[in-house]
Amino acid sequence: MRAVVVENYDRIENIAIKDVAKPDISAGMVRVRIQAAAVGFVDGLKVQGLYQTKDPLPFTPGSEFAGVVDEAASDVSGFAPGTPVLGMVRNGGLAQYVCAPAADLFATPDGIAPEVGASFFANYLTALYALSARAKLRSGETLLVLGAAGGVGIAAVQVGKLLGARVIAAASTEEKRQFATKFGADSSLDYTREGWRDELKELTGGEGADVIFDPVGGELSLQAFRSIAWNGRHLVVGFASGTIPALKFNLPLLKGGALLGVDLAQIGRREPEVRAEVIAQLFTWLSEKTLVPVVGRVFPFERFHEAFAAMATRSALGKMVVRID
Ligand SMILES: NC(=O)c1ccc[n+]([C@@H]2O[C@H](COP(=O)([O-])OP(=O)(O)OC[C@H]3O[C@@H](n4cnc5c(N)ncnc54)[C@H](OP(=O)(O)O)[C@@H]3O)[C@@H](O)[C@H]2O)c1
Repeated sequence: MRAVVVENYDRIENIAIKDVAKPDISAGMVRVRIQAAAVGFVDGLKVQGLYQTKDPLPFTPGSEFAGVVDEAASDVSGFAPGTPVLGMVRNGGLAQYVCAPAADLFATPDGIAPEVGASFFANYLTALYALSARAKLRSGETLLVLGAAGGVGIAAVQVGKLLGARVIAAASTEEKRQFATKFGADSSLDYTREGWRDELKELTGGEGADVIFDPVGGELSLQAFRSIAWNGRHLVVGFASGTIPALKFNLPLLKGGALLGVDLAQIGRREPEVRAEVIAQLFTWLSEKTLVPVVGRVFPFERFHEAFAAMATRSALGKMVVRID
């Protein structure tokens, strides 16, 4: 089969598609023929060996995918060949086939295209877990989403609206702000502009944001926290800016606000029931088409580099998807 193979941690332009063996299935596993795979910011860091945990070499990047069942191990039931599925793995998505534990695969609801299925899991799970389980976002509260046109940002905009919040999308360009508005944001602001906090103050009637969804980090996070409402919750989701901010402890005291960490990688182990509830809610929304995941751009397999480049150059809108078959 053909797969993107990282033999040495390197820049994405130096990584190539290679012919490798089709993965063998072992007990509890299902082999999926991948139709579309999505890449996120983390995948770009992993390829370069810059992520906080390093994937042992060689590896195939890409953690989210949608496709059809090729073959299931004899101890697995419910995954007949040809069944459309979507799922998430640590890595291996940018390949024609991947093996995944049956427990980590989900039947793709009818009418969901592979590009949509591949764009669904990680970002929407992160957004709903963060907003509902961590921040306890209530209907009518104000949600400020930083990096609102990025993969996880646009998911937070949509999920925030579904939970009944008034969503303010913050992003760096007019195109990105319009993109967030198209997917439901009630208002938007340019957080690269001097004085953006005054605009936020006006938009929130002087109160500040009840919940801040923050996948960006850096100085921006510190400024945002200064604009949090009393009893506000600031969700620490990621550091796409490349800088981990250091918040002085007097600020939570003065603001009556809380800083809440979010780590998708740990919730299955630490809060399995909560994860199951969140996934069930997401699949209900997906089946009902209440939630239509945002597909940013779709690239052919041979041009997978461009999906990574779009994120690295801050030009991506929504999730970047690679069509495999
Ligand atoms: N905690 C978790 O479980 C979890 C789950 C999913 C993702 N994440 C994290 O969330 C972050 C975003 O991931 P993503 O896949 O949504 O990425 P993405 O699609 O590339 O979006 C990131 C956004 O960050 C903003 N940004 C600001 N400075 C940037 C810079 N120097 N380079 C690139 N983008 C910059 C950009 O918006 P503007 O141009 O509008 O500023 C961009 O749209 C990553 O750090 C990722 O690790 C964490």
